Amino acid sequence: EKYAVGVDLGGTNIKVGIVSESGRIISKTSVKTEAMSGPKVVIKNIKKGINEILKNNKRKISGIGIGAPGIVSTKKGTVQNPPNLPGWDEIELGAIIKKEFGLKVNVENDANAAAIGELIFGAGKKFESFVMVTLGTGVGGGIVFNHKIFRGEIGGAGEIGHVCIDPNGPRCNCGSTGCIEAYAGNHYIKESVKKDLHNHPSSKIWELIENDLEKVSPRVIQMAAELGDVYAKEFIHDLGIKLGVAFTSISNVLDISTFIIGGGVAGFGSPLFTTIKSTMVSRVLTPLKHRIKIVPAKLKNEAGILGASALVFYNT
Ligand code: BGC
Ligand code: NA
Ligand code: ZN
Repeated sequence: EKYAVGVDLGGTNIKVGIVSESGRIISKTSVKTEAMSGPKVVIKNIKKGINEILKNNKRKISGIGIGAPGIVSTKKGTVQNPPNLPGWDEIELGAIIKKEFGLKVNVENDANAAAIGELIFGAGKKFESFVMVTLGTGVGGGIVFNHKIFRGEIGGAGEIGHVCIDPNGPRCNCGSTGCIEAYAGNHYIKESVKKDLHNHPSSKIWELIENDLEKVSPRVIQMAAELGDVYAKEFIHDLGIKLGVAFTSISNVLDISTFIIGGGVAGFGSPLFTTIKSTMVSRVLTPLKHRIKIVPAKLKNEAGILGASALVFYNT
């Protein structure tokens, strides 16, 4: 069997793994991104992660696949302006990593890579077309149409995180305002609950964070909601409406009715998914209504590494 290195470049961690062609993870590691220190340091950390995983490896490696945030040219191997990696203008990540390791390198947008992972190994197998949405530090999207990724003119297709749902809404790291990422991105969820929680003194979240607002996280909100906390449940419901509104526009534009949802915030689970679906069904153009499907991603934590390594073997 053949093997590849998969690299998932995230806003907080860089995950690296050795993966077989059939999607078996042989080994994996994780290093800090240090996004705020700029591209030089982040690239050093990517190399560190790859070196670490290759150190004790005896298998022959066919290539390195990298899923990176921002607009990625798969042809040029460049990464442009990821909103959550400050200082990245246009970086020739593919060429840099190829030079360092002497292996073939495929770079792809991280959400597109996740979509490819789900398409080949996960929840996307049984659909011809779907939209993959990743809810993490950033909010990403990958459009699969007739089993192929649709990339647009410069590799920027599917940037769902920057669909605006309110021009007067909060500022987004991309420079615009009211983007869906400015409501559903990890940092933004945390900040808005931190601000809001004082108005909800009896929320169960207070106990879960031991009165320390720094401990607010999507996971804590989920736990509170599971305990029946009204504020947490409303927060998730409200987020589901916002996502549903954004996805409605996407569905109307693309005529694709299946959405596969992954990333940490997807952990909110069925309360979130149910609200997204009912919001979409009530708003989307009539012929699409009965077709809407909201599907949880199957690959979970490993999605990034699996999708990235698949870039080496599968041409989509
Ligand atoms: C970026 C996308 C990326 C997503 C997830 C967004 O802020 O614009 O390119 O896919 O975050 O990392
Ligand atoms: Na994308
Ligand atoms: Zn934005």
